Formats: sequence, structure tokens, C-alpha cells
Amino acid sequence: MQRIKLDIDKVSGFISEKQIFDQAQAAEEANNQLENGTGKGNDFLGWVHLPSSIMQTDLDEILKTADDLRKKCEIVVIIGIGGSYLGAKAVIEALSCSFADQNNKNPLITYAGHGIGEDYLHELIEFLTGKSFGIINISKSGTTTEPALAFRLLKKQLENSIGIAEARKRIIAITDQSRGALRTLATQEGYKTFVIPDDVGGRFSILTPVGLLPIAVAGIDIRQLVAGAVEMEKATGTNVSFAENSAALYAVVRNELYKQGKKIEILADFNHKLRFVAEWWKQLFGESEGKDHQGIFPASVDFTTDLHSMGQWIQEGERSIFETVLSVAKPRYTLEIPKDEADLDGLNYLAGKRVDYVNKMAELGTQQAHVSGGVPNIRIEIPELNEYHLGQLLYFFERACGISGYLLGVNPFDQPGVEAYKKNMFALLGKPQ
Ligand code: PA5
Repeated sequence: MQRIKLDIDKVSGFISEKQIFDQAQAAEEANNQLENGTGKGNDFLGWVHLPSSIMQTDLDEILKTADDLRKKCEIVVIIGIGGSYLGAKAVIEALSCSFADQNNKNPLITYAGHGIGEDYLHELIEFLTGKSFGIINISKSGTTTEPALAFRLLKKQLENSIGIAEARKRIIAITDQSRGALRTLATQEGYKTFVIPDDVGGRFSILTPVGLLPIAVAGIDIRQLVAGAVEMEKATGTNVSFAENSAALYAVVRNELYKQGKKIEILADFNHKLRFVAEWWKQLFGESEGKDHQGIFPASVDFTTDLHSMGQWIQEGERSIFETVLSVAKPRYTLEIPKDEADLDGLNYLAGKRVDYVNKMAELGTQQAHVSGGVPNIRIEIPELNEYHLGQLLYFFERACGISGYLLGVNPFDQPGVEAYKKNMFALLGKPQ
């Protein structure tokens, strides 16, 4: 099976090969720390060997629950925020049809608890009225306000529509083994539950039931997703040399660029379906590295769409950015550009060519323009947009993030800064102590 490929050729005008290879030892040490648990935040390293430790029976249990929900529900609402929903959304958006599909046997997946917008929640409640729906409520801490608020509303709606006993069969809780309000509630109400391991933080939890159950409900092959991640776990392990270890190379290159003043990394996709992979990636790197007044700011753009909006800034704005491009080598479908007799749009020179050919030329042209405009370019080629290669990609980024955070000198596995707004909000709301 093919692997995703990292191409760092187009950083050569900005950092030298020597600069990169001078960091080989530091990167190997960082990777060893992940493996041996000797670095900062070492009580949150459960994700490192997670792919290869997932048992067949774990997947069977997830698939059985997913099947049950799929049979009962036309809509399944995933409640969660941050690491408790972004991974699932990334994979589901990437691999599901972009439009309502008449032949679609999969339930519609919707999301709640990823914000506090009253209008969104009102519209969701209206939308669910009269429809058969289920809920997957995900919160590692079990105490996060946004998902708790959404769950309170939707639980009531579900109970009112099908009765308490039946509602309890359509609610799944994914949370801590023993702590938190969601665990207490699930035990009391008798919900089916899955556990988020103590040593796996939210943003690294995509391959636990947090990601796998919603993804399975969406009809996506979680066995292949895990198989891809297992492959990447092997390919980025400590027995792989620095030159061959794509995660270590990516980690070093981005840190060297950061030292040169490239403070912002934009993850650019040339495929709309990957835009939530970028959202997941932003949380992964932003929450892991943005601390001690340091860290690359992770941003994202969706190309070619954003070339018509952010393109100007990228080409000619402050030279503080570098770009990492996600490129899908082989789309799932083939679409040829038709010939048109009148040719009023002047596109006949492309007749008979594939839409993807135009996209690839746009990508190449963009790379040339941005590199010559002072934007270093890293390229990640995904052989095909499928479960296996997405599994590889997600684990690749996780591993790179762990190595990169250690190279930067921060603890990549905590997030003390996210408490600040909560403290103020609770004080303003008058939350009892
Ligand atoms: O990565 C993290 O730890 C956070 O972003 C959490 O995922 C997010 O705050 C949700 O937390 P919880 O799952 O505890 O509700």
C-alpha cells in the first residue's frame, strides 16, 4: 500500500539541508521521548501506540453500537467541542458525499455543543422535530459547558418525542471511565458508554471511540482508518532514520522556518473535502504549541477558493508565513471537461482534460508563485482520499506534533490557557463554587 509523501524541496531557498540535518539528533531524541515517556506531559502519551493497540473486539463493539444507531435513526447528533468532535467531523466531511444522496443509507450526521449560538441550537431543534434521531454525547472531562448545554436541550427533546425509556437507548455517552458529570449522568440513566483513556488528550483522541463511533455511524470503514494509522505508527517510529521519518522531518522543517521568522503556518488544501482536516490540524498544533509566548500560529486556507480572497495577502503581505499543502494525487471520480461548439467561455483548449488536471495545474502555479513571492512550501501528497490514507495522515500529524512540541521546548500535551475564558465566564454567570 502506498504511503502519504512529504516533499520539502521547496523550502530549500529558505533553510538549508544542513540546517535541517543538524536537527536530526534533537528530533530523534524528541521521538524517543515520545516512545519512552521521558518528556514533558508524559502522562498523556496513550496516543503514541494507540493504533497498534486497538483490538478487533474494540472495533466490533463500536461497529455493533454504530449499526444499532444506524438502524434506529435518520439523524445522529454528535455533541462535543474541540478534540471531542473535530476529528470525527474531519473524516466524515472528507469521505461522505457533499450533497444529499437519494440512495444514501447512512444517517445524516449533525453537530451540536461546538458553540453556544442560540440561533443554531434553535434551528437544530426545529430541524429534528418529527424526525427519528439519536445522540452521541462526547466529553472527556464530562463537565464542558457547551456540550452539556446542548445535551440538556436535545435530551429533553428526544425524551419528549419518544419517551424516556426509548430515548435512553438512543443516547451514547463517550467520557472518562469514572469522573465527571457525564459519567454520573450516563450511569444514572443507563446509557451505553465508551471510555476515553486517561492518557489520551482530547485533540489526540480521534482513534478512540471519540472519533471512531461517529465515523462508523456515518458508514465509513473504521478498520481501514485504523490500518492506515498503524502503518504510519510504524513509519514514524524510533527505529526509522531521521531522513526516512516524515513526521520528524516535517517537525524539524517547520521549527527551522519558525526560527527564520516564519511565525504562521497555513495549511492549504486543494480539495474542499479536506477543510475540516485543516480545522482538526489547527487545534492539534495550536493547542499543543501555543504556550510560554511561543509557537507557530496555525491557520488554514481552502484553495483555489481562498486564492480569490486570501491569495493577495499570501502573495504580497508580511513575509512571516510558510505554507503546507495537502494534495490528493488521485480523486475518487473522473470528470472530463466537455467541448462546446460556441466556446464563448474560451475553455475549449481544456476540452477532453479532467477537472483534476486543471486543479493540479492551479496547485503547481500557486506553488511557483508563492515560493517566488517568499513563501516556503511544504507539500504532503495523499495518494487517494480514502480511509486508509486519512488514517495515515492523522497519525502523521499527531506524531509530528509531539516531536515538534518537544523541539520547541513546550509541553505539547497540556492546555492551561483554555481555562482563562472559562474562569471569567463562570464568574460572570455566577456559577456556584
Ligand atoms: O484538546 C482538548 O483537550 C480540548 O480542546 C478538549 O477537546 C475540549 O475542550 C473538549 O473537552 P471535553 O472533551 O472535556 O468536553
